[in-house]
Amino acid sequence: MRAMTEAKKLYVKTYGCQMNVYDSERMAETLGAQGYVQVDTPEAADMILLNTCHIREKAAEKLYSDLGRLRPLHDAKPELKIGVAGCVAQAEGGEIMRRMPIVDLVVGPQTYHRLPAMMEAVERGETALDTEFPEEDKFAHLPKGRGTNRGPAAFLTVQEGCDKFCSFCVVPYTRGAEVSRPAERLLREARDLVERGVREITLLGQNVNAYHGPGPQGGEWGLARLVRELAEIDGLDRIRYTTSHPNDMEDDLIAAHGDCAKLMPYLHLPVQSGSDRILKAMNRKHTAECYLRLIERIRAARPDLVLSGDFIVGFPGETAADFEATLDLVRSVGYGSAYSFKYSPRPGTPAAEREQVDAAEADERLQRLQALVTDQQRATQQGMVGRRLQVLFEKSGRMAGQITGKSDYLHAVHVDGPESLLGDIAAVEIVGSNTNSLAGRLLA
Ligand code: SAH
Ligand code: SF4
Ligand code: F3S
Repeated sequence: MRAMTEAKKLYVKTYGCQMNVYDSERMAETLGAQGYVQVDTPEAADMILLNTCHIREKAAEKLYSDLGRLRPLHDAKPELKIGVAGCVAQAEGGEIMRRMPIVDLVVGPQTYHRLPAMMEAVERGETALDTEFPEEDKFAHLPKGRGTNRGPAAFLTVQEGCDKFCSFCVVPYTRGAEVSRPAERLLREARDLVERGVREITLLGQNVNAYHGPGPQGGEWGLARLVRELAEIDGLDRIRYTTSHPNDMEDDLIAAHGDCAKLMPYLHLPVQSGSDRILKAMNRKHTAECYLRLIERIRAARPDLVLSGDFIVGFPGETAADFEATLDLVRSVGYGSAYSFKYSPRPGTPAAEREQVDAAEADERLQRLQALVTDQQRATQQGMVGRRLQVLFEKSGRMAGQITGKSDYLHAVHVDGPESLLGDIAAVEIVGSNTNSLAGRLLA
């Protein structure tokens, strides 16, 4: 029996999107209230929680390879508890325990508020499974955060789930229908973060610009209203949001990019393909032309905006000409960065049933797209050299005497400077550009 005074040790591993990062922090806080302290290695843990991603096959398979690797640890320490949370938990449920009997707990992304009761069952030696989509807000009942080693930049989930049903995507199935959290609660959480030293908040949602939460005095707030109200919080200097859908980019949000100084000039706006035929097959409900006009309007509001996007190559039915249309779109937009993925058939989604593109062909397209995007990324970064930028310093750099932060445009910037600047925003002159970061010099 464990002595009552000895803290239980929790190891959390997070896969997938930023929402999982946010969820992992909340789960660690919830379990903190139950006496768990976080540790850095699975070997040191009494409880291991894997917060999983199901977006592509490779992402989902990581869970099973990691569980396989944990087996010897579990054999050596049979009292070790293992839990699986997140989107694979939602998609596969009890199947995970059948395939991997070392798993004691499976919890879907919408039931994290039930984790304390589930953990009690697990501690009694039972197994626990919950993958429902309950009505209540999963974060409404959580204990107030206690700052799990947080830096000056934080995430805040404002909206979850998706009603769009792009034909390739698991998110509507794993995260459920679109739900927006009440504005009041978000303002409170944001103020609480700022009191603990946070200067930058990234609002998160699978479809964040579809946010339409109940306002404090009744009525509904859209994302633009929420951003503007958050901008009133003293001490909060930067606001970002991700991920947006082109069809939810409303006029007031575009306007906010022009007149809300705290809204940072960086936008992740996935388009997936430049071919209208493929966009239709993807059920995206916008054309390439709509997307390009939209970008023009956002850039008219904020000319220095840096754009990023997501692309899928080798979607079922994609021809060489469709792929060329994607390259054309990328050339017309000029991205600061972009993520591109080879299409991965996901069980239960409509596109998985269709005839697949030859894998070698898809690989070749992916390489060509990535080369083009890398060129654009380099050019964008090179364009920052010589400029004076504001940088929020988040952590010490890899070299001694170095600190690292993010510019308004979300580029990582390294400078030689004192650790006393961590948590602060300072002016920096950019003196060089590397593959994934910028080198700067602190200005007095
Ligand atoms: N909600 C966001 C992104 C969700 S997933 C949006 O609508 O844009 C993040 C990215 O993963 C997607 O933008 C897409 O490019 C990629 N993705 C999703 N499903 C995929 C699949 N089955 N195969 C390959 N890439 C996929
Ligand atoms: Fe998935 Fe995004 Fe499409 Fe929703 S809008 S189905 S999250 S890709
Ligand atoms: Fe992955 Fe789920 Fe996020 S599938 S990308 S963890 S919403």
